[in-house]
This record gives sequence, C-alpha cells and structure tokens, in this order.
Amino acid sequence: MCGIVGYIGDGSARGIILDGLKKLEYRGYDSAGIALHAGDKIEVRKKQGRISNLEEFIANDPVDSTLGVGHTRWATHGAPSDINSHPHCNGDSTIAVVHNGIVENYVELREWLIKEHGVKFLSETDTEVIAQLIGVCYRGDLLDAVYEAVEKMRGAYAIGVIAAGEPDKIVAVRKSSPLIVGLGQGCNFIASDIPALLRHVKDIYLIENNETVVLTRDQVTIYDKERKEVKRDVFHVTWSAEAAEKEGYPHFMLKEIHEQPGGIEETLTRRLSPEGMIKLDGISLTRKELERFNRIYIVACGTAYHAGLVGKYAIEKFARLPVEVDVASEFRYRDPLVDEKTLFIAISQSGETLDTLEALRDAKSKGARILSVVNVVGSSVARESDDVFYTWAGPEIAVASTKAYTTQLICMYLIALHMGLERGALPMEEYKRILQELLALPDKLRKLLETEPDIREIAWELFLYNKNDVFFIGRGNDAGVAYEGSLKLKEISYINSFAIAAGELKHGTIALIEPGTPVIALATQDALYEKMLSNIQEVKARGAYVVGLAKEGNQEIGKRGNANRVVYIPRCPDEITPVLAVVPLQLLAYYIAKFRDCDIDKPKNLAKSVTVE
Ligand code: AGP
Repeated sequence: MCGIVGYIGDGSARGIILDGLKKLEYRGYDSAGIALHAGDKIEVRKKQGRISNLEEFIANDPVDSTLGVGHTRWATHGAPSDINSHPHCNGDSTIAVVHNGIVENYVELREWLIKEHGVKFLSETDTEVIAQLIGVCYRGDLLDAVYEAVEKMRGAYAIGVIAAGEPDKIVAVRKSSPLIVGLGQGCNFIASDIPALLRHVKDIYLIENNETVVLTRDQVTIYDKERKEVKRDVFHVTWSAEAAEKEGYPHFMLKEIHEQPGGIEETLTRRLSPEGMIKLDGISLTRKELERFNRIYIVACGTAYHAGLVGKYAIEKFARLPVEVDVASEFRYRDPLVDEKTLFIAISQSGETLDTLEALRDAKSKGARILSVVNVVGSSVARESDDVFYTWAGPEIAVASTKAYTTQLICMYLIALHMGLERGALPMEEYKRILQELLALPDKLRKLLETEPDIREIAWELFLYNKNDVFFIGRGNDAGVAYEGSLKLKEISYINSFAIAAGELKHGTIALIEPGTPVIALATQDALYEKMLSNIQEVKARGAYVVGLAKEGNQEIGKRGNANRVVYIPRCPDEITPVLAVVPLQLLAYYIAKFRDCDIDKPKNLAKSVTVE
C-alpha cells in the first residue's frame, strides 16, 4: 500500500523525506514523489519506478526546502506512471497532497469540479481530485479548506497537505488508513508508518480515525471531526527499524496472515452497491456475453492455482457453468481448445509469473476473452488482459502467499455469484444470502485468529514428531485447501508434505500411512462429512496421528478413534469455508517452519515472482 511522509523544521526537507520514503519501500510501491514549499508555489518532483529514479531526477533538477511531503505509490486507481505518481497539486500548484487509501466518490467529485469550477485534470487518480478540491475550498486558511474538502469525500484514506500561502504548516487527516505524527525538537513529521521516522524521533502521536492534525515547527495540534482539540498521550517507540517494518510481527508472513480480515474487507466491501449488489469494477459479464462462452478456463500457478480450484467449485455451484482449471506451465503445451467462445481467467498475485503470462498470451492469440484476478496494479498480466479484477490485498512481501490467496477466493466468489445471477442460475435470495455470509467472514476470521496459540501448540507437537512426511487430505472444497496447506508447509519448512483428495487414498497412497504419520484432515464440508470421517478412521486404523479441521459445534471428530487433535473454524456455508479453513494451515506451516528455524519470509530456492518459464 502507499506510504506518506511529511516534514516541517529547519533541516533539509528533501533529504529527510527521501530517507523516510526509503524506509517505507518494504510496503511495496511502483512510483515515488516529493512536494516542497518553494516560496509562492510548490515544487514537485515525481517519477515512476524506484526511489533511486526519483533521486536521479531531483539531482538533475535540484530543489530543497524546510517544509515538504513525500509519497510512495501502490497503484489502485490509474496505472503506474510519472503523471499518476503523487504528490498531486491543484491547478496553480499552490496546494500539494499526498494520499494513502481510496476516495470512493472521486468520480462524482471530479465531474463536479470540472463542471462547477472548470478544473482541468492531468491524471487519472483520486488523489488529484483531493488536491483540486482543497484548492477550490482554500480561501486563505488551510485547516478550513481541508475540513471543507474532507466533508465531501467518502472512502478510507490518510492525507498530508501543504499550501504555498502557509509556509509554516502541514495539515494531515486520518480516515481509516494509518497516520502517525513524529515529535521532534523544532521539527515535526507525519508518516504512514513508524519506520519512516525512527531515524529522527522515538516519540510519536498515533492519530485516531476521523482526526485532523496541524503541525508547525514547534507545535502539533490534534482535532476531532467536530474540530474540537483532543489531547493524546505520547507513544514512545522502542522497536528497532527492522521490527517496525513488520509492525512488531517477527515475520512479514505472520503480519500478512493477520492482515487477511482487512484485505478481505477491502476486496469485498467496495464492490457492493448501496443496494447490496456486486459491482465488478466495470467488467461486463452480462447474460448475453456469458451465453457466448462455451468454455471457461482458470489458469494459474502455485497458490493462485489452488485459488482456481476453489474458483471452479464456486462458478460451477453458483453459475452452473463448466470450468476447467489448469496449471499455466501445462496449459499451453497441451494444445488446448481455445477460440473466441472461450473465457480465460488468469489468477496471479504478482501479475508477472511468466508461465501464467505466456498461457494468457497463447489464449489471447486464439481469440479468448481474458479476465485476470491480480494483486499488483499495472502488472503485465493486468495490462495484457481484457478485464482485470484486483485483489486489494496490499503488497504481499513474504514469498509464501497468504492474504493474496484469501482475497483471490473472494474475487472468485464475487465473479461466480455475479455470473449465477446474470444467467438466472442463482435465485436472488441465495445471491444475497451468500453475499451476507461473505461479509461476515472478516469478523469470523478475526475470531479464528484468536486460536493462534492452540495452533502453535499443535505445530510444536508435530515439530517434535519431526516427521518428514506430512499428509493433507480433504474432499470437495477441502481438497483444494488441502493442496494449499500442503504447499505452505513445503515451501517454508522444507518438509515433504503431500496433499490428496481423501477419496483417492485407498487407490494407492494409503500404503504410505504408518504408525505416527501426521495427517491433516480437513472435514469442514457438511455434505461430505460422513465420508471424510471414514477416511480419518481409515488412516487412524493404520496408526496415523490425525489433526482434524472441522466447523465449530462438531462433537464427533475429536472422539476416540477419530482425530488426535482438532482445530475448529467458525461455521459458514460449505461453499465459502476455504477462506477460513486455510488460515489454521497457514499458521501451522508458519510455526513448524519457525520451530525448524527456517528463513520464513525468504525460503531457499524460491522467489516472490517466478518470471522465468
Ligand atoms: C505461493 O506461496 C508461492 N509463492 C507460489 O506458488 C506462487 O503462488 C506462484 O509462483 C504464483 O505466483 P503469482 O500468484 O504471483 O502468479
């Protein structure tokens, strides 16, 4: 996600802000920029790409000041480019804004500004709308103008604002997205995150939601929504810089596991109209268009492929359309049946996986319509698709994918529900019921994450077993999740883990089960529970050590002769349990890898994005 930094003091705003932006690089970004107060106007320098590009650009066109704001952009609206980079200014560059988050009503605000104030926009971003809006509200008092502008904005954001006419002030606002203030001697700072400031200050204010803050060199004043001044205790940071990037978590992977409730909320809630209907970000999948397709492929790699397995179930269940799922590295070499009646769905966190990209290009060359589900805005897969449905998971730093997977599932459910309703295969009441169940998932996931200590304990037991063969089994939707849980364990703990559809065990693999073999048995599918219980009993009869995964309220699975240990997930419809069921498996893999002292965020031999075939 984006990062913002601001400084007011007597030092070099350029140097301090650039240094702060570098400390936010871990958040992931695709462009960077800086706005500095330079007399009667504001000077902006901004470039697509790394911060080093920006530094080179500034060196060729130097500018400095004692007041400024800076930004690293993670594109959500408008592809990465110089012009879409932040900061953004109003028309005469007397106001500059840096922004993290999304202004949901930016289109209507943009149209109003054009119509009522003749504003000419330079970029496609929602941030420029904020700068232009504050510009038209400005009548000599920046705090007044910001309050007036924010009143008109809807969304989740943190902004930092400077004005040419007020060389002694930064105004910042928090509405959901993080914002902190650094308290210095004769200087003060704003930032999205602690690492940006740690080099300069240890005392900070944590700004609360719907608060506005005014910084001068010697004073910081915090106001609430009604513009009443509020007092705030100073928070003294004791973290190291490295720990701060992980917000106190020991690894990015654990941080990202815990970011899943928020990522699901981001990916879901902004795709629902006020009437509670799904908005596919302008992607047209009308009944008529769906009737054009006689084949749907979901093609991806690794974790994204496992999300495709769940996506297949969802589309076949809700839209009653046949779906083929394939790993990208196999797809294009099997001479697949592809033509203009094919819908090709690519799933990719990075949007740069070459296997997936090449499969997409092959399908496109044969006339298929390309819909991609991608996390990185403006990535190659996104750019080469006809339609893109973004997973707003934010940057995923750990090589092992977690929050991208669960937000990919959410996107697949939204696409499947939309298709089902469009085709008349899904009654409206069922559509609404499942949507409500999806909206309930973030809180259920927060509750599930509270069982982390129990899962850590099971991981410790399995670690002590120190077995090198762990089996994951499941049926229906649980089979796809079993594959994902097995991959998590493999790629970060280096344990030889194996997943199989539970019904397949008796066709050979059960020969491998011997006394003490750990088996993770997923039994969340009510419709398949009895069958799954039999499979658990089969492996138990051969001495397996079974960790069961079941819905809360299941009194049977933990009984003698069944699972040795049980992890319970909150109840929800079978179709959407994968969003919850995968999380205990992510945590199990994490803690086993931790006990084995593995390099969890950067496992050996692996890359975050596999850009080779
Ligand atoms: C998942 O934990 C792995 N890092 C890997 O399997 C990954 O899912 C795969 O390489 C696909 O990456 P993508 O989603 O960026 O295309």
